[in-house]
Amino acid sequence: MTNIDAASHVRGESVYLDDIPLLQGTLFACVFDAPVAHGVLNHLDLSVAQAMEGVVRIVTARDLRGENQIGGIIADEPLLADHHVHFQGMPVALVLAETEAAARAAVHHISAQTEPLEIITDPRVAHQKGELIIPPKRFHMGDTQAAFAACAHIVEGRADVNGQEHLYLETQGAYAVPTEGGGLRIYSSTQGPTAVQRAVSRVTGLPMHLIEVETGRLGGGFGGKEDQANTWAALCAVGAQLTGRPVKYSLHRMEDLRMTGKRHPYSADYKLGLDRDLRLVAYEATFYQNAGAAADLSPAVLERTLFHCTNSYYIPNVTATAFSCRTHLPPNTAFRGFGGPQGMFVIECAIAHAAEHIGVSAAEIQQKNLLETGHIFPYGQVVESEARPAWQQADHQFDFAKIRQEADAFNANHRYQKRGIAMMPVCFGISFTKTAMNQARALVHIYTDGSVAISTGAVEMGQGVNTKILQVAAQVFSLSPGRIKVHSTNTLRIANTSPSAASATADLNGKATQLACTALLERLKKVAAEVLKTGDNGTGIALREGRVWHNGLPADLDWGALVNHAYLKRVSLSEHAHYATPGVHFDWDTAKGHPFAYHVFGTAVVQVTLDCLRGTYTLDAVRVVHDYGQSMNPLVDLGQIEGGIVQGLGWMTLEEVVYDEKGRLRSNALSTYKIPDIYSVPKILEVFPLDTNRDNLAVFRSKAVGEPPLMYGIGAYFAIRDAIRAFRPGASPAFDAPFTPEKVLINLYPAAHAE
Ligand code: MTE
Ligand code: HPA
Ligand code: MOS
Repeated sequence: MTNIDAASHVRGESVYLDDIPLLQGTLFACVFDAPVAHGVLNHLDLSVAQAMEGVVRIVTARDLRGENQIGGIIADEPLLADHHVHFQGMPVALVLAETEAAARAAVHHISAQTEPLEIITDPRVAHQKGELIIPPKRFHMGDTQAAFAACAHIVEGRADVNGQEHLYLETQGAYAVPTEGGGLRIYSSTQGPTAVQRAVSRVTGLPMHLIEVETGRLGGGFGGKEDQANTWAALCAVGAQLTGRPVKYSLHRMEDLRMTGKRHPYSADYKLGLDRDLRLVAYEATFYQNAGAAADLSPAVLERTLFHCTNSYYIPNVTATAFSCRTHLPPNTAFRGFGGPQGMFVIECAIAHAAEHIGVSAAEIQQKNLLETGHIFPYGQVVESEARPAWQQADHQFDFAKIRQEADAFNANHRYQKRGIAMMPVCFGISFTKTAMNQARALVHIYTDGSVAISTGAVEMGQGVNTKILQVAAQVFSLSPGRIKVHSTNTLRIANTSPSAASATADLNGKATQLACTALLERLKKVAAEVLKTGDNGTGIALREGRVWHNGLPADLDWGALVNHAYLKRVSLSEHAHYATPGVHFDWDTAKGHPFAYHVFGTAVVQVTLDCLRGTYTLDAVRVVHDYGQSMNPLVDLGQIEGGIVQGLGWMTLEEVVYDEKGRLRSNALSTYKIPDIYSVPKILEVFPLDTNRDNLAVFRSKAVGEPPLMYGIGAYFAIRDAIRAFRPGASPAFDAPFTPEKVLINLYPAAHAE
């Protein structure tokens, strides 16, 4: 089945926040944001702006009727700066004006006097000064100290990995409309309608039942709208509450880049011990996460870094420690992989280091240490592994030895062009690591004309979740997709939603949909048995392609007539179901448990060619064997894999978030922040399914696919490193991603650079 949004997307007919028709009297908002990264806010001069034409009101922290607080995990984030500013881009005042142009013009006439305070941008410096968001988190398995003592090889080093801008096509935004009785309806481009509802409730002082959050679809979220859509919705809500008029804010790209957080940069120290047979015996890692100025989702992201710090490998002795460090950057947030990619990057650095030190290929170490079923993760969960089958199938299909030989032969014949390759296995846990979040609801109505309307907590952000949910209903009812509509996400229809995140949206909401549809089906079967007088209470009834069947034969009753009979018999044609993932739990006191419903595995081989005069490179091929389980929509899933890989490649190669020492974003526009375009994506991108048929907790056994493929992109970093070492044998570039062409050039000619 093709994506149900495909036609309207291509025609430009899909409705995003900015396409919603505005009500008469709508005001437009624009934020005046902190001009310095850290300081005491002594004076705010609003007088000139206030007097400008079209300006209706300027809102500051003092005006809020509720709490000036939007911190989700930790209450450490004011909506509007009060006495202090903590990052450049922190909202200070909200201008409300009759037009968008008037609002933006007025912002330029606001000035703030601040008394500067020390600015920290480096997480290691923050750690030294005791600036931690939460106490450190630690995973512990076995005894690393004793194990290191017996190792044949030990490598130690440092790895740094930078952040990443989400660059969703649709910038952040919201539209708040006052409703009768003092309530608010909020249209929000958010992955978490309930998170928006909570934040709005807090800052307005209104109870949640007076706040309706409506989300049609997103032009991308990638984690950036899991928590950080709250700010704009809360600001619009406050504006609407104080003026009694609808308020809209749709951020300009440069506002969005400047004011929102990104993927967390990390700095890490590692120590890896191997035995004589290249088996990984002991691993110690310390992670310094650059959280930015407030907690946001950083503690949860930090946890997932630990969960994935050994990637696809079994290491019996592990001590991993993670610090969430407070700096004066915009609060960093969820981004596809949610801290997992950073953890995986560091173990891959350690393995590359060990391979170079010992004089073997990284692939040899990787392959030898893949997880097997029955192994234990450092967090206590027993492994059900597809790591080796994925690796072996990839080797069989792509022939690693041949790829290596061809690269070596090419390198022997080319002086200023070098090829590099890397294998990248991936193991990613599916479920929110916070167990309570693994629940979802679905509301299914069958109308008397036989059409079906579905609401769930799932937010469509381009990942195709609505298509999958529709497929679930179509399959359970055996109806054509045209008779089913998946509707917007709305907190009045579905309450207490988890954000659409953790790749688990289709699993959670799809399973809730399956439960609701199955309950309706069973009810309808009983009605059919009564109508057809089968006397079997529905046990012999089946529905197939819009018709009722009895004992394997078509009966003279179709879906529409059956639904009508049910209505006339006063049988409910609506169902609200709740799904909670069974078996997941985690205890942070012991740092052990079974946090994930299952894991997704796969192996990629990445090939690059380096231009050794210019430091530029082409990504020749990314070939993958990926564990889909049983894909319920191979086209949608392939789109996710291709998109995820390219986003991962961008993170590792071109995309460079730059803040200066003052905490000012220098890569603040698309002229200074480069993401992969059609010319820089791999020339060959091949994805093969891993043939398995193991039972799992995924919806229709179709494993989650949103995040795991991003991490195949990490292979590009090591393929580039491999190519540099072909040009300059023995080179040992610092592990410092992304590998931008500038960094490549410096590492090709370090002596020239030193001069
Ligand atoms: N794909 C598109 N097109 N747009 C997005 O914003 N977000 C990613 C991924 N794929 C995203 C996407 C992220 S971060 C996650 S967690 C998952 O989709 C969320 O959706 P899922 O749970 O349905 O996979
Ligand atoms: N993944 C993504 N988002 C989240 C998670 C997670 O594990 N936990 C809380 N938000
Ligand atoms: Mo995705 S980072 O879990 O929104």
